[in-house]
Amino acid sequence: MLSRSCRALALLVAATALTPVATIAQQAAPAPATPELAAPATPGANAVLRVDQPGAKIDRRIFSQFAEHLGAGIYGGIWVGAGSKIPNTRGYRNDVVAALKDLKVPVVRWPGGCFADEYHWREGIGPRKDRPTKVNTNWGGVTEDNAFGTHEFMDFAEMIGAEAYVSGNVGNGTPTEMAEWVEYMTAPAGSLAELRAKNGRKQPWKLPFFGIGNELWGCGGNMRAEYAADVTKRFATFIKVPAGTKIDKIASGASDTKYDWTEVMMREAGKLVDGVGVHYYTITDNWTKKGSATQFQEVDYARTIEKTLLMDEIITGHSAVMDKYDPEKRVNLAVDEWGTWFDVEPGTNPGFLFQQNTMRDAILAALNINIFTRHADRVRMTNIAQMVNVLQAMILTDGPRMVLTPTYHVYHMYKPFQDATFLPMDVKSTWYSKDQWAAPTVSATAARGTDGKVYVALVNTDPNNPATVSTAIQGMQATSATGTVLTAPQVSAHNTFDAPNTVRPQPFNGATVGPQGLSVTLPAASVVVLTLN
Ligand code: AHR
Repeated sequence: MLSRSCRALALLVAATALTPVATIAQQAAPAPATPELAAPATPGANAVLRVDQPGAKIDRRIFSQFAEHLGAGIYGGIWVGAGSKIPNTRGYRNDVVAALKDLKVPVVRWPGGCFADEYHWREGIGPRKDRPTKVNTNWGGVTEDNAFGTHEFMDFAEMIGAEAYVSGNVGNGTPTEMAEWVEYMTAPAGSLAELRAKNGRKQPWKLPFFGIGNELWGCGGNMRAEYAADVTKRFATFIKVPAGTKIDKIASGASDTKYDWTEVMMREAGKLVDGVGVHYYTITDNWTKKGSATQFQEVDYARTIEKTLLMDEIITGHSAVMDKYDPEKRVNLAVDEWGTWFDVEPGTNPGFLFQQNTMRDAILAALNINIFTRHADRVRMTNIAQMVNVLQAMILTDGPRMVLTPTYHVYHMYKPFQDATFLPMDVKSTWYSKDQWAAPTVSATAARGTDGKVYVALVNTDPNNPATVSTAIQGMQATSATGTVLTAPQVSAHNTFDAPNTVRPQPFNGATVGPQGLSVTLPAASVVVLTLN
């Protein structure tokens, strides 16, 4: 089902031809103000923060998530049904809903993934007792009773304060079925609006994002790019919403570095869509043996970190193609699936993609977010895979128990970056390496939040040494810095149902502001978010 290129040659070259100093291009636009900036002699970075040169808005939707009918992603994780002993509101788990509300999830993508291209929306509306039970052919071959359908999803999104991104069925659906689903959700009048009202919802829902299939090159129909582009145009033509409302149509995008797919999609269908997706998962080894989520050596850690940094190249590559057809950057590059994909936890259903989540995942999440902020002009939505109990999840559940993962904590720490204004940072970092795998020791991003404050996020990828970051600040007289740190003695540290607070954010007191600017000592393997005062 899933074929992907492992990694880009360029990254291999970069890793094998290492120089001791890394120049990180944090944003293309302004010429460096301090060309003499050099990396320090010990692990860390020297940086210049340009508060006086604000860049693009960091769309809050880059912090969005993905929830598929897969394993316990929906059933058990979000939905337990009103009759459950697990505390719930109309069937939704109270603990999970509260945790997600606190995270300010901007958008949830649903119902797939591969599930979307076999999903028939009419099977998930009306009295639950009348809904058909199907087999989830993509994920474990288990039965799907359609208890969680359109109404349940839209209500859930409203409960947590998120916008909806619904993926339609191109694979084995029809343009009529897709058009009628959109009409059912959005029309103020007509037979489908009456059916919606009969099923409990009089008011149309807001539907800001709609996906035209998923992975059309694979589980969505094994199409060639040319055919997929034609099909996308055909389906997109019939997706219509009432006057005065807007829907962003998002074309099914490429896998990792398959730039040809984006080229064809943009050339043929670019004018009919508002976004093009791209998917990139970080695996340690290969698709046959991906690697353990928790039992790994330092070399596996370094390899995973290096591989995730390919995201920057992937976005740069697809953006360059899109720039040819859309220099105004109207079309969003939506990274609508990304995150770690490890071997499932021993003893769990291989089709359920249940994996633990460690400090390594947290570092990887922060590295990716930092990359997304640097591409804020083109990347206006990303959806980490997935929300609960699947792949790089925010939340894990076990019956009535719930645990917040290190990845959840990173998303919580980065909340001030939602809808903030990007502030460029030049960073000269040393490198962390283990055997042939390497990454810059320090990753950084900065922004002015909607509250007017300046925020700096820093990552130390080195699991063995603290990193010192010295930052000159241009355009702001900062006097102090306060913040939060996420770290752990081992990068494999994780939260369990019995020990849920092993990895959790703590107040950070390793930052000082003086005449030379901001000076920060990052603990080994850490993520820090600072507020400059
Ligand atoms: O997120 C799991 C699966 O990964 C999705 O269903 C599919 O789109 C991708 O291959």
